[in-house]
Amino acid sequence: MFIRPEIQRIHGYVPGEQPRGGKFIKLNTNENPYPSSPAVQRAIGKAIQSGLQRYPDPLATAFRERAAEVYGVPPDWILCGNGSDDILTILTRAFVGEGDLLRLPFPSYILYKTLAQLQGARSEEIYFRPDWSLGDDFAASAERLKIVYLANPNSPSGTVIPPDRVLVIAEKLPCPLLVDEAYGDFAEGNCIQLVKQNEKIMVSRTLSKSYALAGLRFGYLIAQPQIIEQLLKVKDSYNCDALSISGATAAIDDQAWLANNLAKVIATRQRLTAELRKLGFSVVDSQANFVWCNHPAKQARSLYEELKAAQILIRYMNYAGWGDGIRISVGTDEQIDALLGLLQGMV
Ligand SMILES: Cc1ncc(COP(=O)(O)O)c(C=O)c1O
Repeated sequence: MFIRPEIQRIHGYVPGEQPRGGKFIKLNTNENPYPSSPAVQRAIGKAIQSGLQRYPDPLATAFRERAAEVYGVPPDWILCGNGSDDILTILTRAFVGEGDLLRLPFPSYILYKTLAQLQGARSEEIYFRPDWSLGDDFAASAERLKIVYLANPNSPSGTVIPPDRVLVIAEKLPCPLLVDEAYGDFAEGNCIQLVKQNEKIMVSRTLSKSYALAGLRFGYLIAQPQIIEQLLKVKDSYNCDALSISGATAAIDDQAWLANNLAKVIATRQRLTAELRKLGFSVVDSQANFVWCNHPAKQARSLYEELKAAQILIRYMNYAGWGDGIRISVGTDEQIDALLGLLQGMV
């Protein structure tokens, strides 16, 4: 084998199950249960009609211009990617070299650690406190620390580190802080305006969750332009294709669709949380489109397995040295009723 030893040694990131057959109710990968804005399909249809023989715009200018208006920043503060995972890959490649250190909270999005491993770099996991806050060790200096990743809202908890605390952390850190706001639209606050205050703060976003476009693959970074300029050298020339650029631009242009969808998802999240508590679950208050819970009388793994046998997929997570639990994505009201009905008979 000629593969680099650090690649052979690692397990690689394992995404949530995406079953192809069966009639599963899918509540395991935090997708949006509703179809995206109809404007997206129309825009993609138009892009197909005008032909795909040419390369796409390497900068996704149309999206950048529209997103710039939405967030009140200039277009050159935005970098587009093939999902926000692509943004995370670009950042890790740009900031973290072999032997360097990447910091992440624990438990959180597992991909951050995998990205460090792919670089031949080290990673340092700082445990959340029991109330899902982060202590000052998250902001401490460390030798060769090159970037810190913070999922905010966090997965699997759905909890948020408030923007004023994020600013304090960034000011103390000796390196940039990437605030991964994949679930930011579902939360009460966000850190986008902090990017203007401190060049160390960068925010990544995705259309996969709140815009119901996980299949389209489109994410973006908001950072100061001197950083974006460097990151452009690292990304693939055409990392977003012509169809995803047109679909994404139409999606972000339809803020009325977004507001309506967020209201539905958040209302269902609140109902799901309350109903789970009535069944005896301990549920963390979530600001995302999923909830993290455990039941005192029933093992999390059994719940996952029994629900799967009944064609409902949720995410079972077992974090070594920390514990396990289940993460349930917010589905439609009908899907959540089906889930709750089954759980009633299980706990
Ligand atoms: C915290 C977090 N960040 C980023 C992503 C990646 O999203 P995408 O690559 O679809 O934009 C996910 C997906 O589940 C996530 O949970």
